[in-house]
Amino acid sequence: MDNISLDYSKSLVEEYELENIWPYVKTAHKLLHSKSGQGSEYTGWLDLKNSIDNEEIRRIKETACSIRENSDIFISIGVGGSYLGARACIEALNHNFYNELPREERGGPKIFFVGNNLSSSYIMDLLDLLDGREIAINVISKSGTTLEPALAFRIFREYMINRYGPKEAVKRIYITTDKSKGILRSLAQREGYTSFTVPEDIGGRYSALTPVGLLPMAVAGIDIDKLLQGALDGAEEYSMDSEENISYKYAALRNILYKKGKFIEILAQYEPNLHYFAEWWKQLFGESEGKDKKGIYPSSVTFTTDLHSLGQLIQDGGRNIFETTLNILNPRRDMAVKKDEEDLDGLNYLAGKSIDYVNKKAFEGTLLAHFEGGVPNLVINIPYMDEYHLGKLIYFFKKACAISGYILGVNPFNQPGVEEYKKNMFRLLRK
Ligand code: PA5
Repeated sequence: MDNISLDYSKSLVEEYELENIWPYVKTAHKLLHSKSGQGSEYTGWLDLKNSIDNEEIRRIKETACSIRENSDIFISIGVGGSYLGARACIEALNHNFYNELPREERGGPKIFFVGNNLSSSYIMDLLDLLDGREIAINVISKSGTTLEPALAFRIFREYMINRYGPKEAVKRIYITTDKSKGILRSLAQREGYTSFTVPEDIGGRYSALTPVGLLPMAVAGIDIDKLLQGALDGAEEYSMDSEENISYKYAALRNILYKKGKFIEILAQYEPNLHYFAEWWKQLFGESEGKDKKGIYPSSVTFTTDLHSLGQLIQDGGRNIFETTLNILNPRRDMAVKKDEEDLDGLNYLAGKSIDYVNKKAFEGTLLAHFEGGVPNLVINIPYMDEYHLGKLIYFFKKACAISGYILGVNPFNQPGVEEYKKNMFRLLRK
């Protein structure tokens, strides 16, 4: 199986700088693996093999199978780490227009996400789609107290009870929450909803490979065994305390660049269906590292789209950025440009070339231009965007994030800062 690789030949980082930072990488590795670093009580994701509950996986597959058979629309209710992993994987692996495909081609329900904002229009527009279609909902919240999903769940649960009656609604509402604590756990017990567990020792943004992400993914037809296999192989490969470990090297490189004043990292990719993968990555790194007045600001672009907007700033603006590109070596699909006898558009120079070939040349040209413009560039080469490699990539970034956070000297597993706006909001709402 071709492997994920890291090319840092255009990173503007010298080998001696990597040698200098490596003792810090080793310390971070020790802190993480001996569970003696800050936030170690939330490192359950690290030993993936032991964190996988085979009985839970079997129940997820069984439940997903019945949802795929009985539902036209599946609504995933959650925010932050309780939704981004699932959405990232579903969009990265599925057809770009999955929800628009005929039911036979999709093989399962349309997938919608709610509870990740407080937009009344968004909620009501989604409600407009439901009548006359069979619905299943999955509320995902570890704490059970997060306002956005709690409010959405109140609305959609009420819809389900009115629509199906209390007895049938029970069969169509699924809860993913803490094993024993919280409102959702009590509700699941009281109402008899089928429920899944968010492991206590895994925080939201590290939970994509738990029932949090796996149930919605399985409903969307994703082979979760292959995804987990990729992640398991990643867990082994990226556990080495060695300079061969590309996850550690990525963590080291970004810290070197940060120390050199590169305060913004732009995750670039050339596949629009990786948009939500970048959102997941932004949450992972932003919430993990941005504290104690430190942290790289994670940002993202989809090229070539954003070459016609942010490309200008990247090429020519302030030099406080570096770029990390996700380069998918083999596209899921490809087609050749045909020759046109008249050539009115002047594109015959591309005849016989594939669209992906053009995309790759755009990437190579952009990489060189940005590098020559003084933007350090890291490239993560991914052979295929399939379940296996995506699982591995998720583990690659989770591991890199934990190591990077420890190198930076922060606790990568808490998020005290997110409480501040809540205090104001709840005061204003007179909670
Ligand atoms: O990474 C995190 O811990 C957060 O982003 C949470 O996932 C998010 O706030 C949602 O929390 P909960 O699952 O408790 O509703």
